[in-house]
Amino acid sequence: MSSAAGGKEVLLSIRGLTVEFRVPRGILRAVDNLDLDVYSDEVLGLVGESGCGKSVLAHTILRIVDPNGRIASGKIIFGGRDILSMSKEELRRFRWKEIAIVFQGAFNSFNPVMRIFEHMVDTTLAHDENAKKDEILKRSKELMRMVRLDPEAVLERYPHELSGGMKQRAVAAMAMLLDPKLLILDEPFSALDVLTQKFFLKTLVDIRRETKKSMIFITHDLAQVAEIADRVAVMYGGVIVEAASVEDIFYRPRHPYTRALLKAVPSIVGSVDELKPLPGPLPDPVNPPPGCEFHPRCPHRVEICSRVRPNLERVDDVSLVACHRWRELN
Ligand SMILES: Nc1ncnc2c1ncn2[C@@H]1O[C@H](COP(=O)(O)OP(=O)(O)OP(=O)(O)O)[C@@H](O)[C@H]1O
Ligand SMILES: [Mg+2]
Repeated sequence: MSSAAGGKEVLLSIRGLTVEFRVPRGILRAVDNLDLDVYSDEVLGLVGESGCGKSVLAHTILRIVDPNGRIASGKIIFGGRDILSMSKEELRRFRWKEIAIVFQGAFNSFNPVMRIFEHMVDTTLAHDENAKKDEILKRSKELMRMVRLDPEAVLERYPHELSGGMKQRAVAAMAMLLDPKLLILDEPFSALDVLTQKFFLKTLVDIRRETKKSMIFITHDLAQVAEIADRVAVMYGGVIVEAASVEDIFYRPRHPYTRALLKAVPSIVGSVDELKPLPGPLPDPVNPPPGCEFHPRCPHRVEICSRVRPNLERVDDVSLVACHRWRELN
């Protein structure tokens, strides 16, 4: 692990990451020369409008890219190693054990003919063939309690016997089975009703407090971020445009896009999806605008913005921003 500004340990370091998909119209660049660090012991909230590349980024961290996609460039360093240069076998051992993910819509990911406990057994054995069944049972029960599910009622059930909310909790429990150092949660509440979402979010906040586990929490909902995250990265058009503490994002946003996001949400209890659309269209990832991706919609744009892409600049120990004008706009 390397040391970052402010004395924090960097757990995951992404540099110059570009991910492209072949589509009928040409090449779609979903992640575009992106830089991002995740520190040990933090929850990083990753926010941005639909289609900005959050899920593709999350999948790429585990090198799970759709067949029509390719990682065109970059490095993803975790524990001193580049995930992008690991062999298949190294990756197999790495996933779940070092970094685990709860996929968007993950409640459908259980095998319908296997009981929940059998999923736990299979995942454990895939990483440790000598694991004992009674130990797996003990750990599974512990995890079920952690996600506030009754182990006796859930472990012997088939996935279809659980409600959507219960399934989501069981998926989260499974992701923690091998005690990964980093847990990625991609819109973990998307299919749940509001009350279930609130209850699950509270559970995650408790788990975070109990385990101190590092997390990347991907969401549309700024209110959720306010509750669980320590730091927030704002993504737009395949790049990180701002990263800062939760307080700074809400009270001292620096990037015009972050400001627009906050302004468009009536209060910090809304979701990015519910916001009044900002003027101008989202960038087309097949034909992105030159210069700053946000400039066509930015009320503060000047000539340079349409020509030169701004670097992600360090503002202080924690904050980064990619805007030519952040100094004068503050
Ligand atoms: N397999 C694929 N083939 C072609 N394009 C893809 C593929 N997967 C993702 N994309 C495109 O990549 C871009 C980023 O998609 P991604 O799913 O990461 O967005 P997102 O930020 O997670 O959105 P949401 O908030 O709706 O989940 C989008 O333009 C999407 O259409
Ligand atoms: Mg997504």
